[in-house]
Amino acid sequence: MTNIFDDAKPIAIGCDHAGFEYKEAIKKHLAANGLQVKDFGAASPDSADYPDFAHPVSEAVEKGEAAFGILLCGTANGVAITANKHPHIRAAICWQNDVAKLVRLHNDANIICLPARFVALPLAIEMVETFMATIFEGGRHARRVAKMTC
Ligand code: RB5
Repeated sequence: MTNIFDDAKPIAIGCDHAGFEYKEAIKKHLAANGLQVKDFGAASPDSADYPDFAHPVSEAVEKGEAAFGILLCGTANGVAITANKHPHIRAAICWQNDVAKLVRLHNDANIICLPARFVALPLAIEMVETFMATIFEGGRHARRVAKMTC
């Protein structure tokens, strides 16, 4: 599995109850491929509030303690909106493999947000693999990304 991020650092992952099952499966898949994963919860499929997990994942990425982040909730909007409150986070909702590639190529996304209720698990895993294998294109996109922060 290609990982263009710093593999000395863990991948931060978090979800609410809607993303729990997919989080567990993605975590297992990454670990089986020799990658370190830091799980910020939820720890069970019981009802939970997505900001409680999206903030710690975002902080780990912002501080450089994690290589990149993976967040899941039902639509991916709750976790993405929360994560994008952090100035150095570019959290991108992905629902197709091409989108997972483009958010790295064009947006230098550092968190992938997956809508667990709207994509099949094999596609979610494929999108994580694409995200982590794709290098930011830079150039004109770097100029645009530099204009993002308020
Ligand atoms: C939980 O029911 C749901 O609201 C949450 O997972 C997410 O979709 C919110 O954006």
